[in-house]
Amino acid sequence: MTVLGLETSCDETSAAVLDGGPVRSNVVLSQQDHAAYGGVVPELASRAHLRTLGPVVEQALREAGAGLDDIQAVAVTFGPGLVGSLLVGVNFAKGLAWSRRLALIGVHHLEGHLFSARLGGGHGLEPPFVALLVSGGHTELIHVEAYGAYRYLGRTLDDAAGEAFDKVARLLGLLSTSSAVHGGRVLAEAAEGGDPEAVELPRSRPGREGLLDFSFSGLKTAVRRRVVAGGGAGPRVEDLAASFQEAVVDVLAGRAREAVERTAVERVALVGGVAANRRLRERLRETLGRLGVALFVPEPVLCTDNAAMIAAAGRFRLLRGERSDWRLDACPRPPLPGLVP
Ligand code: KG4
Ligand code: ZN
Repeated sequence: MTVLGLETSCDETSAAVLDGGPVRSNVVLSQQDHAAYGGVVPELASRAHLRTLGPVVEQALREAGAGLDDIQAVAVTFGPGLVGSLLVGVNFAKGLAWSRRLALIGVHHLEGHLFSARLGGGHGLEPPFVALLVSGGHTELIHVEAYGAYRYLGRTLDDAAGEAFDKVARLLGLLSTSSAVHGGRVLAEAAEGGDPEAVELPRSRPGREGLLDFSFSGLKTAVRRRVVAGGGAGPRVEDLAASFQEAVVDVLAGRAREAVERTAVERVALVGGVAANRRLRERLRETLGRLGVALFVPEPVLCTDNAAMIAAAGRFRLLRGERSDWRLDACPRPPLPGLVP
C-alpha cells in the first residue's frame, strides 16, 4: 500500500510518499514567516500551510516518481498541534481522499514520532522498546509494548525539553542574529565552543508516585539568574549554553536508564526534534551501551517534524484495517491512541 503522508501541525509543511520499502520522498518546508516575531504565530502558520501545502505535495509526488494514481491512501496529522494549522492538513487530506476515492487515516502526531525510529537505514526497530520522545511540545518516556499499545512511564511536569532549549537560546541572545524560530540547533552550536562544567546548574528530578517525570523550568530560571547576575560580566554565553545542554542531557540520559531498568527492554528509541542533538545522542549511546541496550535514533531530518513518520504510523493503522471517516477533525490535544493503563 502506497501512502501519501501530510504533516501541518506546527510550522513545518511536509508531505511524503511511503510504501513497504525505504522512504520514497519526504519534503519538509520550514516556514520562514515567524522570524521577526520571536516565536510561531498561529495565524501566519495556517496561512503559510494553505499557500504551500499543494506545491509541497506535488514535489513529494515528483520526487517519489509517483502520480496520484499510484497512491492508495492519505495519512494526515489531526493533532496535537495548532488547530488552524491542523485544519489545513486535515481538510486537504479529506478533499484529496474524497475526490480520488482514497482511504483516509488521521494520525496522532506523537504516534508519528514513535514510528520515526523505524524509518531509514532499514534497521527495522521492533517492539518492545522504550521511546524517549523529546520535542518542542512534549517530553515523555513511553513503553512501546507493541505498535499501537503504549504505556506512559513519565513526562514533563512543566516545560518540554525543546521548549527549554528555545527559551534559553532566546535568553542568551542567540536568536537575535539568526532567522531561526527554534533555538535548539543554535544553542547546540554555541555549546560546541563551551565548557559543560563551567556553570553549576540544577538537575531536577520530580516524580509523581512511581513515574519517571521531568521538570525543566527550574533549570531555565537558573540560567536566567546567572545571566542577570552576571550583568554582562557573567559566564561566557558558550559556557552557559554548554552547561545548560549538559544538564538537560544528564537528566534525559538518567531517566532513560531508569526506564530501561524498570521495563527490561533491550532497545530504546530517541525521537522528536531534540533527538537531533549531537551531545544527547552521544551520551545516550554511551549510557545504554554500558547496559547492553541498543539505541535507535533517526537521522536528524526524521527527528524534527516530517510527513514520512506520519505516513509510517498511518500505514501501520491502515494495514490493520483502520480508516477515518469524513468526520475526521483537527484536535489540539487528543489522547494518544492505544494507551494501556
Ligand atoms: O519534533 P519537533 O520538530 O516539533 C514538535 O513536535 O515540537 O521539535 C522541535 C524542537 C524545538 O524545540 C527545537 O529547538 C528542538 O526540537 N531541536 C533541538 C535541536 N534541533 C531541534 N534541540 C536541541 N538540539 C538540537 N540540535
Ligand atoms: Zn513533533
